[in-house]
Amino acid sequence: MLSTGYRLFGRSSPRFSGKIPHCSTLTDGSTFVILLVVSNLIVAQTMDLGIDGVHVLVTGASGGIGLEISRLFLEYGAKVTAQYNTTQTTLQPLAFQYGERIQARQADLTDEDAVNKLFHDAATGSFGDVQVLILNHGIWPTADEPIRNMPLERWRKTIDTNLTSSFITAKEYMWRLELAAAVVKDNASIIMIGSAAGKYGEAGHADYASSKSAMMYGLTLSLKNEIVKIAPRGRVNTVAPGWVKTPMATEALKDPSIVYQALATTPLKKVGLPYDVATQVVILSSQKISGHITGQVLMVEGGMEGRLLNRPEDI
Ligand SMILES: NC(=O)c1ccc[n+]([C@@H]2O[C@H](COP(=O)([O-])OP(=O)(O)OC[C@H]3O[C@@H](n4cnc5c(N)ncnc54)[C@H](OP(=O)(O)O)[C@@H]3O)[C@@H](O)[C@H]2O)c1
Repeated sequence: MLSTGYRLFGRSSPRFSGKIPHCSTLTDGSTFVILLVVSNLIVAQTMDLGIDGVHVLVTGASGGIGLEISRLFLEYGAKVTAQYNTTQTTLQPLAFQYGERIQARQADLTDEDAVNKLFHDAATGSFGDVQVLILNHGIWPTADEPIRNMPLERWRKTIDTNLTSSFITAKEYMWRLELAAAVVKDNASIIMIGSAAGKYGEAGHADYASSKSAMMYGLTLSLKNEIVKIAPRGRVNTVAPGWVKTPMATEALKDPSIVYQALATTPLKKVGLPYDVATQVVILSSQKISGHITGQVLMVEGGMEGRLLNRPEDI
């Protein structure tokens, strides 16, 4: 029998009206199913995601998407180590609301020693070893630089900050996972945040697009075969958004031509919200709900079909 309790998926769902417009009941012998027909309302059946008490490390937790991922994990009962790089100011409301279930830790993830210390510090106290790793941190250099003009330093910095840091952090996680208790291994999961740029490329931002392609394909697909050697139920997936309204995208999204280009091939015609990404990260991380899903790249891009290359006047 399905549970008859329903709840909003995320207390701060922006479209909650407070009413359930239509509800119907079906019976078929032993099963009893309640269907809710709801327009413009995001609901999920109350179900146990199995992440209560699970220790999740969210990188780049002080940024737009990382903050929402952290908030949603906390809402579902997880313990969150929130990694920040330069400032933890944005994390303070979460610390105030969730108290001892969140710990903020500073680290520059391009530095191996800092990552080692991060995992060591994260595991002290009542949190224990990290069970779920969310590789969300990253940079998107704003200037348009075709490869022929792109300084080598910029290329190196972006690859280092997005990709090499993910390698360093995943390496530390895997190393510790091998030595971890069975309960940690049973919930083992890595989720990377990729990008539509990793799928379609991004002219003027080949450094960023290349770093994301490598995470979405080479790293995800290799790690998903390695993790099961040390944690048989371990999984590795990537969630890859199109444009999302966060500090990273604020400047670019002020330009109407960029918004037009982003939405021209997108049937849902919406710039994503951090919540759109966070919900998928939480669902995918759940061993209970997504335990048979690994090696996948889940696009959260409103159905985007690719880049708008030519306008009528260009042809
Ligand atoms: N926003 C979008 O349109 C969009 C679209 C597709 C994919 N994404 C991806 O989504 C993820 C989150 O992006 P966002 O939009 O939330 O960006 P954001 O608000 O700029 O947050 C990025 C976070 O990464 C951290 N970070 C940067 N360099 C770091 C380093 N060396 N070590 C540790 N942390 C570092 C930043 O901390 P500091 O600021 O303190 O350095 C910040 O907390 C990124 O991987 C991004 O590529 C974003």
